[in-house]
Amino acid sequence: MLLEVRDLHVEFRTRDGIAKAVNGVSYAVDAGETLAVLGESGSGKSVTAQAVMGILDSPPGRITGGEVLFQGRDLLTLREDERRRIRGARMAMIFQDALSALNPVLTVGAQLGEMFVVHRGMSAKDARARAVELMDRVRIPAAAQRVRDYPHQFSGGMRQRIMIAMALALEPALIIADEPTTALDVTVQAQVMDLLAELQREYRMGLILITHDLGVVADVADRIAVMYAGRIVESAPVHDIYKAPAHPYTRGLLDSIPRLDQKGRQLYAIKGLPPNLMAIPPGCAFNPRCPMAQDVCRTDVPPLYEVAGDHGGERVSACHFWRECLRDRS
Ligand SMILES: Nc1ncnc2c1ncn2[C@@H]1O[C@H](COP(=O)(O)OP(=O)(O)OP(=O)(O)O)[C@@H](O)[C@H]1O
Ligand code: SF4
Ligand SMILES: [Mg+2]
Repeated sequence: MLLEVRDLHVEFRTRDGIAKAVNGVSYAVDAGETLAVLGESGSGKSVTAQAVMGILDSPPGRITGGEVLFQGRDLLTLREDERRRIRGARMAMIFQDALSALNPVLTVGAQLGEMFVVHRGMSAKDARARAVELMDRVRIPAAAQRVRDYPHQFSGGMRQRIMIAMALALEPALIIADEPTTALDVTVQAQVMDLLAELQREYRMGLILITHDLGVVADVADRIAVMYAGRIVESAPVHDIYKAPAHPYTRGLLDSIPRLDQKGRQLYAIKGLPPNLMAIPPGCAFNPRCPMAQDVCRTDVPPLYEVAGDHGGERVSACHFWRECLRDRS
């Protein structure tokens, strides 16, 4: 397994109290595989990714438990210099906002080239040539000229391509893309997502794709992990989830996507708000919002039940009533 996160816990100690942002997350991604991570704002998707990458805002953030096994080694036990060597070269991250991730006072050619100078010891001239190649690879028109431009001279979509090029430069084994297309226009979103998916297949990278956009997930992901209040509440092969979710929260997310075949139908919205992470409800954290909640849901935390899937691969749901949930849908 390329990456295996086991029982990860992250807290933020703030003036107002301790926010339990990640509460026992486990997930795995293999080479050539795409894992989509879904969930409402504040569910802990980015914090989990930051802990995996070793870029958690700390303090106030603190990893209080778990393991992050990358190619078999627990990254959480490595020294910072060892960690830094892996980051960038063997795992890379793509963020939502390229303008703040790129350096505004360096040309994109200098920034791309620097990766090769620093990590591969190339000459400036060779590094420049590689930068142009990479810009071609992510289909930036007239790359040989544009390599001298600064980030602000590119459109949002082109900047996002440059960030993808930066992430790919050293041919990492794993890429984490945190809402890579959220800030773009809808038409450009699809182009950037297609490019990312194509490169992922070509380089056989593991990809963790954090997204709000359930529409893209069906096309590009192999597996889905749904997060709620810092936990994975359902994890399964993508086809199983679309066919019949085994958790009421996943069902709520799916029912809230507009569908072409049901135009005019009232869109479902999950009622209520995600919980305050300083006071997560006892029992199932989703119980105050769940249409299927029973008494047991208010007292007993649901474990991850194994659900029999149709497509092979592990399938789990943290719902006491996953059978009923599946039955309702199919
Ligand atoms: N720097 C920080 N200081 C304090 N608390 C933080 C910090 N970063 C994150 N948190 C806490 O962790 C929670 C989870 O944040 P996270 O960024 O992982 O959410 P997310 O699922 O990525 O949401 P979004 O979809 O909005 O990006 C937040 O709601 C907040 O309580
Ligand atoms: S355990 Fe209960 S409250 Fe939680 S999702 Fe299942 S039915 Fe709903
Ligand atoms: Mg986020």
